[in-house]
Amino acid sequence: MKTLIYYFTGTGNSLAVAKGLCSRIGDCELIPIASLIKDPGPIVPDADRVGIVCPLYFFGLPAIVAEFSSCLDLSNTDYVFSVITMGGSGGTAALRQLDGILKEAPARRGLDSGFSIRMPGNYILMYDSLGQEQIGRTIRAADRRMEEIADRVKQGFREKLAWSPIAALIHHLMNPRFIHGVHEADRKFTVDDRCTSCNTCVEVCPVENIRLENGRPVWLHRCEQCMACIQLCPTNAIQAKKTEGRRRYRHPEIGIGMLKEHARR
Ligand SMILES: Cc1cc2nc3c(=O)[nH]c(=O)nc-3n(C[C@H](O)[C@H](O)[C@H](O)COP(=O)(O)O)c2cc1C
Ligand code: SF4
Ligand code: SF4
Repeated sequence: MKTLIYYFTGTGNSLAVAKGLCSRIGDCELIPIASLIKDPGPIVPDADRVGIVCPLYFFGLPAIVAEFSSCLDLSNTDYVFSVITMGGSGGTAALRQLDGILKEAPARRGLDSGFSIRMPGNYILMYDSLGQEQIGRTIRAADRRMEEIADRVKQGFREKLAWSPIAALIHHLMNPRFIHGVHEADRKFTVDDRCTSCNTCVEVCPVENIRLENGRPVWLHRCEQCMACIQLCPTNAIQAKKTEGRRRYRHPEIGIGMLKEHARR
């Protein structure tokens, strides 16, 4: 049974989950969502099973994932699942949002199952990263959860999606506002003299939103707020709001080279 997993990631959590599921499920291919969105029109996966793996942004889907999902034609697919990675809680709201979008999309079929996994939070604009020990503990727990999810997916587990009134309310209050300003939110990013013109920020941005001008990054206002540029700059030269002095985060098993490769596809 062939499986395609579409994923979006900034700092590697969702890529680690997508890779982990792929290797456990077998006969599986990974496709970065950002590589597909350039060509408008329906996306028809050639697979029996389809998964969508992405981070939670303000109790909802990243804008690019919502856009991609509305183009998915799942008429030839037997089983559809999603896994949301998140720093805290609220994954159920994003799963229900995704289910709603898929039901409006060409094939008019929703999710067969949906899961969330707690991972180290990466929203450095709001908080500092966890320490190494806590990151290790969180990732070990996430790996165990990934095992459970892979087993359920292989068994073709189907279940009504969970609903939390609190998560739904927070989604309603916060997500539309975030999405409304998301592409322009890079206007608050700045770069300081620690910049060495190494080009890493350009290469890790999944949506080609950065170019170097006079050796310094310039943001092009089609940002997804994935935090990759701020988190992965080797000299911590990129700041926004209160990021100065906060520790940077990347999933420890996902190297910068891997994130550059995923952004290039
Ligand atoms: C813009 C933004 C908003 C976020 N909002 C939430 C949220 O509402 N709830 C939550 O639990 N985590 C939130 N997070 C944390 C991420 O969902 C989490 O760290 C995720 O695993 C990152 O995945 P990635 O490494 O694949 O990019 C947010 C992160 C970002 C960048
Ligand atoms: S990653 Fe950091 S050091 Fe490298 S070009 Fe970008 S801002 Fe400069
Ligand atoms: S500019 Fe930075 S935060 Fe925005 S999408 Fe690119 S890497 Fe992510």
